[in-house]
Amino acid sequence: MARILTGIQSTNVPHLGNILGAILPGIELANAPGNEAFFFIADLHSLTTVHEPEVLMENTYATAAAWLACGFDTEKGFFYRQSDIPEVTELMWFLTCFFPFSRLELAHSYKDKVEKLGSVSSGLVFYPMLMAADILLYDANIVPVGKDQLQHLEFTRDVAERINARFGSDTFVIPEARIDEHVQIVPGIYKDEAGNFTKMSKSYGNTINIFEDDKKLRKRVNGIQTDNTSIELAKDPDTCIVYRLYSMIASTEQTASLREAYLRPGMGYGWAKEQLYLALIERFGDAREKYHFYMGNKKELDLKLQEGAEKAGTIAYEVLCRMRSKLGYKKLAYFGGEV
Ligand code: ADP
Ligand code: TRP
Repeated sequence: MARILTGIQSTNVPHLGNILGAILPGIELANAPGNEAFFFIADLHSLTTVHEPEVLMENTYATAAAWLACGFDTEKGFFYRQSDIPEVTELMWFLTCFFPFSRLELAHSYKDKVEKLGSVSSGLVFYPMLMAADILLYDANIVPVGKDQLQHLEFTRDVAERINARFGSDTFVIPEARIDEHVQIVPGIYKDEAGNFTKMSKSYGNTINIFEDDKKLRKRVNGIQTDNTSIELAKDPDTCIVYRLYSMIASTEQTASLREAYLRPGMGYGWAKEQLYLALIERFGDAREKYHFYMGNKKELDLKLQEGAEKAGTIAYEVLCRMRSKLGYKKLAYFGGEV
């Protein structure tokens, strides 16, 4: 049996890139026989950049609603808010004491943020250690992540190996990153200055929020950047964002037929965008409905997250106590531990 674990920060409403690149592949892995899934909302990580409680809370609900709307069956796995499991911050402290500070300062994600933002909080330096705690606390085997998270997984393995070398290999399970090469990078709705596709990312303001109402969604799709080839001329599908996005969500047949339309003179980009809009509605119609159901029934979300926290908490408690006893600390007294 493999334990699959991944987290998504709650810094905003998950966009099409997050859904195609992380949520749907995660759910597929969760449904594979023999796998056990741990999906959580990394709302403590979000605190490194978001300081408004209302924004944090709303985005936590939005992220939870997106997982459920896309079909994650919480009965089959573990679904929880990171901040509901206090063990994670204690474990993080233990990990930081076994990991060189110099490596954290040199982490790509940290250096990027410092470059972009100038001054950053100490939380950002320790971000990878909190992520390592997220993973090690549940004895996870496989962590599906995007390429940008690979270094964080290396740190996780490194700190776990250091601790295992000191206290025995039964202390932590060494996790593996799972980078799915089949999962394509979803492009954002604008190209960069050189005319290349850019990654859809909340940091670039180039996202599509599939949960937006029809009117706003259509407007966003209409705002996708295209070239100015006139309607009478054939167009190049392979350099067009509209076509690329369409190919990621429509069927092979639908994609082939849009391709033909591009290659035939007479197709306007307005029409292609309408096809993309319709394909989004068709593919995500059900998810959109469920998302709004959950966002209108936050009590239901709270209930699911609460149940998830109780289930996940039992494992977190066991693993933290295992580490505590290796370090010579007492078992935690709650949940019936020895005092
Ligand atoms: P963002 O770039 O919007 O900040 P995150 O870094 O929070 O997104 O990513 C959350 C998850 O979604 C990660 O697993 C990441 O690999 C995936 N992801 C984000 N953007 C894309 C994209 N454009 N295409 C495919 N996957 C993506
Ligand atoms: N840092 C991850 C990201 O930005 C989110 C995350 C937090 C995570 N904890 C994790 C991912 C544990 C996998 C496992 O995408």
